[in-house]
Amino acid sequence: MMLVVLRVVVCVHMFMLFHFACLSSHSCHPEENSALLHFKTSLIIDTTFYDDDYYAQTCPHVYPKTSTWKNGTDCCSWMGVTCHSVSGHVIGLDLACSRLEGKIHPNNTLFHLTHLQTLNFAFNNFYGSELPSQFGKLVSLTHLNLSDCQFKGDIPSQISHLSKLQSLDLSSFYHGLMWEETTLKRLLQNTSLREIVLDKTDMSSIGPTTNPLSLIANLSSTLVTLSLIETGIRGSLTNDILCLPNLQHLILSRNELSVHPSELSCTTSLSILELVWCEIQGPISSPFSNLTHLTSLNLAQNQLNGPFPSSLLNLQRLTHLDLSRNELSGQVPNVFDRLTNLQTLSLSYNNFEGKLPSSLFTLTQLSQLDCSFNQFEGSLPKQVAFSNLTQLFLEGNLLNGTIPPSILSLKFLRGLDLSENQFTGHISSEITSYFLEYLHLCNNKLQGNFPESIYHLVNLTSLCLSSNSWSSTVHFSLFSKLQNLEYLSLSGCNSLLLESETSINYTFFNLQALQLFSNNIIGWSKFSGKFPQLEFLELSSNKLEGKVPQWIHDIHSLYHLKLSHNMFTSIGHQFPWYHFEYLDLSFNLMDDDISSFFCNTTSLKVINLSHNRFTGTFPQCLANSSYFMDLDLQMNNLHDTLPDTFKHLDQLETLNLNGNQFKGLLPKSLSNSISLVDLDLGNNQFEDTFPNWLQNLSTLEILVLRGNKLWSHCQFEI
Ligand SMILES: *[C@@H]1O[C@H](CO)[C@@H](O)[C@H](O)[C@H]1NC(C)=O
Ligand SMILES: *[C@@H]1O[C@H](CO)[C@@H](O)[C@H](O)[C@H]1NC(C)=O
Ligand SMILES: *[C@@H]1O[C@H](CO)[C@@H](O)[C@H](O)[C@H]1NC(C)=O
Ligand SMILES: *[C@@H]1O[C@H](CO)[C@@H](O)[C@H](O)[C@H]1NC(C)=O
Ligand SMILES: *[C@@H]1O[C@H](CO)[C@@H](O)[C@H](O)[C@H]1NC(C)=O
Ligand SMILES: *[C@@H]1O[C@H](CO)[C@@H](O)[C@H](O)[C@H]1NC(C)=O
Ligand SMILES: *[C@@H]1O[C@H](CO)[C@@H](O)[C@H](O)[C@H]1NC(C)=O
Ligand SMILES: *[C@@H]1O[C@H](CO)[C@@H](O)[C@H](O)[C@H]1NC(C)=O
Ligand SMILES: *[C@@H]1O[C@H](CO)[C@@H](O)[C@H](O)[C@H]1NC(C)=O
Ligand SMILES: *[C@@H]1O[C@H](CO)[C@@H](O)[C@H](O)[C@H]1NC(C)=O
Ligand SMILES: *[C@@H]1O[C@H](CO)[C@@H](O)[C@H](O)[C@H]1NC(C)=O
Ligand SMILES: *[C@@H]1O[C@H](CO)[C@@H](O)[C@H](O)[C@H]1NC(C)=O
Repeated sequence: MMLVVLRVVVCVHMFMLFHFACLSSHSCHPEENSALLHFKTSLIIDTTFYDDDYYAQTCPHVYPKTSTWKNGTDCCSWMGVTCHSVSGHVIGLDLACSRLEGKIHPNNTLFHLTHLQTLNFAFNNFYGSELPSQFGKLVSLTHLNLSDCQFKGDIPSQISHLSKLQSLDLSSFYHGLMWEETTLKRLLQNTSLREIVLDKTDMSSIGPTTNPLSLIANLSSTLVTLSLIETGIRGSLTNDILCLPNLQHLILSRNELSVHPSELSCTTSLSILELVWCEIQGPISSPFSNLTHLTSLNLAQNQLNGPFPSSLLNLQRLTHLDLSRNELSGQVPNVFDRLTNLQTLSLSYNNFEGKLPSSLFTLTQLSQLDCSFNQFEGSLPKQVAFSNLTQLFLEGNLLNGTIPPSILSLKFLRGLDLSENQFTGHISSEITSYFLEYLHLCNNKLQGNFPESIYHLVNLTSLCLSSNSWSSTVHFSLFSKLQNLEYLSLSGCNSLLLESETSINYTFFNLQALQLFSNNIIGWSKFSGKFPQLEFLELSSNKLEGKVPQWIHDIHSLYHLKLSHNMFTSIGHQFPWYHFEYLDLSFNLMDDDISSFFCNTTSLKVINLSHNRFTGTFPQCLANSSYFMDLDLQMNNLHDTLPDTFKHLDQLETLNLNGNQFKGLLPKSLSNSISLVDLDLGNNQFEDTFPNWLQNLSTLEILVLRGNKLWSHCQFEI
């Protein structure tokens, strides 16, 4: 009841203020109605639009808005169309994520809509269209968003006519649009832009004498947001841009920048600074410590060196700090109690050493902590203050001691990676982080009873427990309770019990990757149908013998198979080769005739049949194929001449036929293999002259020909 009364009051109030507007806002101008309908028919709606992750993030609500536009109805009521409340003119067109496809020609009736103030075509596909200069006619535009529309070519100089523009987004997923320095300059001079997003447009023509960032800073003092990811600019980040009075977001990732460490005594309002992959060298510039409004600083993937700068700890508003993938070194100072707002911190892939600062573990707001791949040592504290931690990545360090129970009970933890450290001891407490999706404890020295509470972590998708020393039996079948599991590695757990009896009925419905090497597996034949989605299977270094079992042949989703270092004597039937990418059968006792193998191959990239007893000739179909990169047939009993049909092997990098009984001439067509790095034809019975024709292969690093009958001085290794 209250709500109804309130609504009436608001309505009356609005009516009094805007009664004229309300009365006249109904009908759309006929010429604009018609212009919109013609615009609609100039394009098609793409029904096959690919819903990948990229679009899922940027376009959560894809909808063909123009499909609701009908002649005879009021265009002001159409989806995506906004009319002025007084004049009735179309002033806004928001067709972002509308699946439009086609070309926009200069004669398009879109350009009749001269009252447009906001235009958003983001994430449609106008591929092939040049950006029509007619956009310059829409002089009332304040907001123009052509992000990811796939326009191509030069940005028309007429864009500078849009003097009312406040926000411009021409960013694109594919590089298509190019700037002339004069066009950009005129645009900036003629406008008071607040928001410029030009990611992946080509600005490389600006410079080298002009610093593009100074140019922009000089001409657009009103800027609040500037994003120029991967634009090909080369310049230096100097005070003029950092000191722009209103600038809050500065995103310059993937350009070649230098940072000049001069004084920075201006007051800045910069809150987000992203300089990822900018080839910045040297120590972290100390003036950054004066950017006291920063909430997010991302300097990942540069060549920064020197210590962790304590001066960064002046940035007390920081919520996100990413210094990953640099060359920073030394101990990290124990002063994080001054950065109490931190929510995400990444120091991964540097050369930091010493103890993890204990103050890190007192950060109550922290949700993601990534210190992986450094040389941190020592043990983790018994208690941690994290209550919101969702991700903890400490893999690839030298950490030791036991894994504290306080970490294994973090309520919101989704990802925990402690692998490749030196953690020891028992996991005695229950693991009660029930939201865990990713748990990697592999390659440590964990002992004692296997932590059975893992079987209750029903949301796990990725689980790696390999190379630890559990003393109790690990029941393989129990992992099938984890119905979301996609990746499972139990390699090196020698107490693994693989229940293969048909009486125990279990299926890994979603498992895509299974690693069980060095598990002492002996007989294993009754697993039909237990892995309906498996794509990646590694069973190397076990004691498997006989034929490769039928249940492996029957996994039609498989594309990566490694069975090396077993005692298999035969492949059994041929595999459904056509979707395989990786096959490693090396170091077995297989003696199949492989002459007619691989004829169904369309995707095999790596084939390793080395150190077996395979017979027959070089598989003829492989010589005609163009897919594979590495072929290793060394140490088998293959014979006869090699086919001279290696015509299309652009990707071939390794060819090893050492230790067979191949004879005759060396195949000259190998000189077409322009990527060949490693060629080993040694210890066969080739009879030929020295292959001078190989000298054109500039990539070749290893050439072994010894143990053949080649005349001239040919027995050497490079
Ligand atoms: C809309 O309908 C009217 C009347 O039926 C017709 O004259 C006009 O050509 C149509 N316009 C378009 C763009 O189809
Ligand atoms: C607009 O221009 C294109 C390409 O020049 C042409 O194919 C098309 O017929 C023109 N459309 C109209 C309505 O004039
Ligand atoms: C600046 O904008 C005005 C108004 O649209 C336009 O007439 C003028 O040509 C523009 N100047 C430049 C250099 O583009
Ligand atoms: C352009 O539109 C897209 C899709 O609506 C949006 O994600 C993006 O933030 C917009 N750009 C600007 C500068 O507002
Ligand atoms: C920016 O302005 C300064 C001072 O007016 C000037 O010295 C500098 O050359 C300008 N830089 C560019 C790239 O226009
Ligand atoms: C930081 O700013 C102050 C004045 O606000 C200035 O005195 C100091 O030199 C600046 N420090 C750096 C490293 O730029
Ligand atoms: C945890 O996160 C939530 C939402 O992100 C936030 O409201 C809450 O304050 C955080 N709690 C702590 C202790 O940081
Ligand atoms: C952990 O490693 C440190 C040196 O890195 C060593 O001093 C300490 O004794 C080790 N602790 C355990 C429990 O192994
Ligand atoms: C597993 O994840 C789902 C959704 O992702 C969630 O609703 C559910 O609560 C989670 N289960 C547990 C035990 O955390
Ligand atoms: C095993 O389980 C599957 C699926 O849950 C079912 O279709 C099948 O009949 C069961 N087999 C036996 C022997 O119980
Ligand atoms: C090759 O693939 C086809 C189906 O694509 C299949 O029918 C045929 O048996 C396969 N041949 C071999 C030798 O695997
Ligand atoms: C084939 O496997 C063996 C051992 O399993 C390995 O030494 C060799 O490098 C592999 N060959 C290629 C080309 O990867």
